[in-house]
Amino acid sequence: MSVRTNIDALRSELNDHNYRYYVLDDPVISDAEYDRLLRELQSLEDAHPDLITNDSPTQRVGAPPLDGFGSIEHRIPMQSLANAMDTDELLAFHDRLIRRLGEEKAIEYIAEPKLDGLAVELVYEHGKFVNGSTRGDGTTGEEITQNLKTIRAIPLALRVETQSAPALLEVRGEVFIRKDDFNKLNKQQEANDKPIFANPRNAAAGSLRQLDSSITATRPLSIFCYQAGVVEGVTFETHSEFLAALQNWGFPVNPEIKVLSGIEDAVIFHSELESRRNTLPYEIDGSVIKVNNYALREELGVRSRSPRWAIAGKFKAQQETTVVEDIVLSVGRTGAVTPVAKLVPVKVGGVMVSNVTLHNQDEIDRKDIRVGDTVLIQRAGDVIPQVVKVILEKRPEIASPFKMTNTCPECDHDVYRPEGEVVARCQNLSCPAQVKRRIEHFVSKNAMDIDGVGEKLIDQLVEKKRIKSVDDLFRLTLDQLSGLERMAEKSAENTISAINNSKATTFHRFIHALGIRNVGEHVSKVLEKAFGGNMEIFMKTNVEYLEAIDEVGPIVAETIITFWSDETNVNIVNNCFELGVTLESVKNETEQIFTGKTFVFTGSLEKITRKEGKEIVEERGGRAAGSVSAKTDYVVAGENAGSKLKKAEESGIPVLTESEFMDLIK
Ligand code: IVH
Repeated sequence: MSVRTNIDALRSELNDHNYRYYVLDDPVISDAEYDRLLRELQSLEDAHPDLITNDSPTQRVGAPPLDGFGSIEHRIPMQSLANAMDTDELLAFHDRLIRRLGEEKAIEYIAEPKLDGLAVELVYEHGKFVNGSTRGDGTTGEEITQNLKTIRAIPLALRVETQSAPALLEVRGEVFIRKDDFNKLNKQQEANDKPIFANPRNAAAGSLRQLDSSITATRPLSIFCYQAGVVEGVTFETHSEFLAALQNWGFPVNPEIKVLSGIEDAVIFHSELESRRNTLPYEIDGSVIKVNNYALREELGVRSRSPRWAIAGKFKAQQETTVVEDIVLSVGRTGAVTPVAKLVPVKVGGVMVSNVTLHNQDEIDRKDIRVGDTVLIQRAGDVIPQVVKVILEKRPEIASPFKMTNTCPECDHDVYRPEGEVVARCQNLSCPAQVKRRIEHFVSKNAMDIDGVGEKLIDQLVEKKRIKSVDDLFRLTLDQLSGLERMAEKSAENTISAINNSKATTFHRFIHALGIRNVGEHVSKVLEKAFGGNMEIFMKTNVEYLEAIDEVGPIVAETIITFWSDETNVNIVNNCFELGVTLESVKNETEQIFTGKTFVFTGSLEKITRKEGKEIVEERGGRAAGSVSAKTDYVVAGENAGSKLKKAEESGIPVLTESEFMDLIK
């Protein structure tokens, strides 16, 4: 095969995987495998720079920083939407349309979630992405082509197998950050002493407006496309047809979008969406109800700022005000001292909030939060609650600025905040708070998984100085335990046997359990592979070796070296082994028998948990989903399986019993 053919094949394979991942939501390879293909392409292109094209998947890493953004005039203005604040206003919108259209026509609507992100326009000429811009003032936006190219969900070239590429295609959509990605991003920002983002929308905005696109490339931006600009060479009768074409071309389209036969259904869509708002993986602030038929849209026309044929149904705000009763300091596993506001409990978005992290002194200063203040609290789904702002009008006269103490609230040791960093840390490794958190982490589900050693027990053990470091857990005796509060003899026995049972573990669980900074569950697995599960070699490793491992960067490498250069850590680990910890040897590469297959586990299984089922499937290259859909290949049903089993049977999806499933993997 010539290099060119090889490169072409790799590009088209990578593009296919992107399409499966972002558009079909049905990936068939792991992220690691994707990265391997990408690196293969990268090294071929490095050797043959003349073969690099603008739309190669390697061109998403960012370009040299700009001095400023250029501007782009939108051929069709990017308008905004009129709002409907309640059901009556939605109905009034429909009445207005009927009046304009002059007859009692049934209007077909198309309803979409209103994403809380940033609108962008993407321009494709003859199937190639040529430029992209922000909405700006609606007429002129900023040219952010390089930044948009870093978003893997945006196709750099249209897929044109099933339909040809139009001469010109302008696609509009919303760039946003998913809630879980947002939480991760803020954790990273905190760990790297960078300012945290107030909400996913701000994080998306900050990321899109970077002059250095290599920074944008590190941000977890997503997109859903929902609107056409100028399209030359193809016509569509309805919006739903256009959205279907968008998907075929490779654009992610929100799967929640529905065609509805009348305004009543739109009202139902709106209220159902509002009730599910917190369970969606991204933030939305309403629904958008649009006329589906393009000829009707034409007839209705636009106003100066918004089209007549669409309306945004707004949701109730997920913000509340409450009072800060106190600000306390909490000490984490790594000694980070975090200020936490104790609030008069308040229900926000259906959940009681009584604590909210204030992150660090800089954040407190920036928002000027004081004890006694009335604050505006915001939460959205699983986004961590936060203080939006202080209601200054309500500040009591006596409220004075809050200053974190320079000593640890738990051990009185000095708290140190390095120059230029935002996080203050207690430097005392034997600080009881840190010891407790380290042990809590050590015993946790995804680490050593020691059942029955909970927070209360750990508190007592540390306070009574029975445990100073994790190895002491393996020295605990029945006598020591049974003397403790709420520890009957039977539960003491159970605890001891749970501790003993945990000793047979795996390399990655043990490494994760040690709580080395920046070495989480995933990196631990990467290390297990890289070191073949050999602890001795891992303990004596060096920076060069570590940095040569994929997915291990200089920061992780350095923290690992620092960890092992501390003799206390080496001793603790050696003690664990002397006290009976053994690491199961790493399994040989599991045969990828489930590649491309999606499983759904339902009902109660006997031999394995559903989580284990998922792991078994994923180890073998498959995927486990939470609900039955057209993409499901097998349903594994245990006792008392309900609607999922029913749906599988109705749709003719093969159903396996647990033991049939176990036979498959033998
Ligand atoms: S359609 C003229 N659809 O809402 C209609 N907009 O207030 C153009 N938005 O600037 C927009 N989700 O940033 C449309 N499914 C959706 C949307 C959506 C979010 C945003 C978009 C727009 C603003 C209009």
